[in-house]
Amino acid sequence: METLKNALSALNLNVPMPGVNNAEVLANPLDVYRTYLAEVLAGAVDCDINVAYKSIQWPNNIFNGDLAVILPKLQPGAKAEEVAVGLMKKFPIDHPLFILPFLEGVHFRVFVKPESLTRLLLPYISSRKDAYGSILSSSHACKKLVVEFSSPNITSEFQGKHLRSTIIGACIGRLYEAMGWDVTRINYLGDWGKPIALLYVGWSKYGSEEAYDEDPVGHLLEVYHKIEEDFKPEQAASKAARDEMAKEGEDKGEAQAEIESKGIFAERNEAFKKLEEGDEKLVAFWKRVRDANIDNYTRFYERLGVRFDEYSGESQIKPETMVEVEQMLKEKGISEESGGSQIIHMQNIGAKAGTAIIRDRSGSSTYLLRDLAAVLERSRKYPFDKMVYVVASDNSVHFTQLIKVLEAMDMKELANKLQHVKFSEVSRMATTLGRGYKPQGILDACEEAMTALSEADAEKLEVVGGLDDVREGLATSSLLVQELSTRLTTTHAFDTSAMASFKLGSGPDLQYWLAKLRRLLKGADAAAELSDEDYEVSAEEDPANLLRILAQYPEVVNATYHSLEPAGVVTYLASVTEQLAECLPEEADGDQDAKVTPGLAALYEATTVVLENGMKLLGLAPIAQSLPGRADTPVTG
Ligand code: ARG
Repeated sequence: METLKNALSALNLNVPMPGVNNAEVLANPLDVYRTYLAEVLAGAVDCDINVAYKSIQWPNNIFNGDLAVILPKLQPGAKAEEVAVGLMKKFPIDHPLFILPFLEGVHFRVFVKPESLTRLLLPYISSRKDAYGSILSSSHACKKLVVEFSSPNITSEFQGKHLRSTIIGACIGRLYEAMGWDVTRINYLGDWGKPIALLYVGWSKYGSEEAYDEDPVGHLLEVYHKIEEDFKPEQAASKAARDEMAKEGEDKGEAQAEIESKGIFAERNEAFKKLEEGDEKLVAFWKRVRDANIDNYTRFYERLGVRFDEYSGESQIKPETMVEVEQMLKEKGISEESGGSQIIHMQNIGAKAGTAIIRDRSGSSTYLLRDLAAVLERSRKYPFDKMVYVVASDNSVHFTQLIKVLEAMDMKELANKLQHVKFSEVSRMATTLGRGYKPQGILDACEEAMTALSEADAEKLEVVGGLDDVREGLATSSLLVQELSTRLTTTHAFDTSAMASFKLGSGPDLQYWLAKLRRLLKGADAAAELSDEDYEVSAEEDPANLLRILAQYPEVVNATYHSLEPAGVVTYLASVTEQLAECLPEEADGDQDAKVTPGLAALYEATTVVLENGMKLLGLAPIAQSLPGRADTPVTG
């Protein structure tokens, strides 16, 4: 607060600042501008400063101004032009923060004065550093978020949708943390159910201890694919019988039941039943498969820079909790028996979401029953304010059922805390990588692709470091940015051929600019205090526009927190580097010893902070190391 007050006084502004509810003046510099603008507006139209404050929007793009006043919100019912004319008359010509606004439609577009930005923003960013873009933790009562993401199935390959969930989910966790939430990360493994039982059947036919010792996860995948192949004809016959039955309008699936009482069907169902009953041999097999996979996943996640607080999974749900759920469903008349299964006609509880199965004919629990019980268990373990499931759209009906059933169980309050963040499940990853790949194979393919960078742009590569030293860092950066720049509803991008690129806003390009800044700063004169002349440097058009963009960072984080579309952050960081390119020291083209004045150095420091914070928010680990001593150089006004 002291730094801010000093900067404001130096600009001849009234201190303390006018009080406005919900203004985050210590976390968001544009809120400082909003507050003073609200003061002007409230005085001009004679309204409450809080009303005026709420009429000010963030235009999202500096070409539309730094702030926009929505006139109908400022004076509901009045004609926009009239309000604007009145405002123009009373708007101070020489306000320390604003140049004279103009009217566009119902918007009053407001631009900030460049001189004010340099004196306000440079010390602001340098004093907040890593925390720039985060809420002050003291200003919000800490809320609890549980975020569930990744959640692969242990019997099959780590699919494109799991990769997407991993990357988006980790980003959502960091976003909430930046907004002051306490976050718990859960990986809900698909480690239970019939596929495990099928793998067991396959293991007794094709399993080899020797092959397992050599490559546990690889061998298990191989075994699973073999038994899956054997099983196909039976599955086809069962499906044909069911279709036939539907045509004839019979309600008893006798033909289908007959097929499923023999062969692999019977072996699999029997094995799953035994597993649920706690049969020693089956439990030992399941545990072995689970441990081998978790061990392997952990190494993969580490390479990707992702961590979980808990490896949970469908297997971890307590049978007692499932019984508790079933009991409630029966008592409230929500579920009913049908042909030996427990089902819910979703229509009966007011949802067009088909028929949900709670327990099947053989008495086995279902995916839905396990998930219902998981909600109860999690709400008891971590009393959360919100739980986000980052899961592909192929699970949409499932989550609709889950939430609707909870509501019908009179747990509306709990149901309201759940959110399914969905994204397209369509992915080309499996086609690119072929059958039987392990999750590591995903990163290996990306690293492989980086070789093309040396041809793409050897000069830029040289700034980041030698390819062999930085290959891994560039590969993950490239992958993360490709994933996160893809809108949630768009199909999965996984395209290794497009990854080796320094194009604007790509992972390698962000790394390049960060490295470039660090290099420039290394040769810069550090000044303990900036002179008036230094400040003037940043008030020129290009540096000033860069500062205007840097001022938006907390707004971008906040907007992304609401939309949960990380693509906005990627676009933003691209705009930072694009404008930064306009602000290089004159002689710097190809010459590392270009002179960086203290004024420029301060601008670069601020840009470094924003670039680095934004990259970390996306999950990118900066490759260029920060310079010892440099990061702590005070910039005072
Ligand atoms: N394992 C599931 C799949 O691969 C995703 C799990 C989603 N989470 C949940 N609580 N149901 O589709």
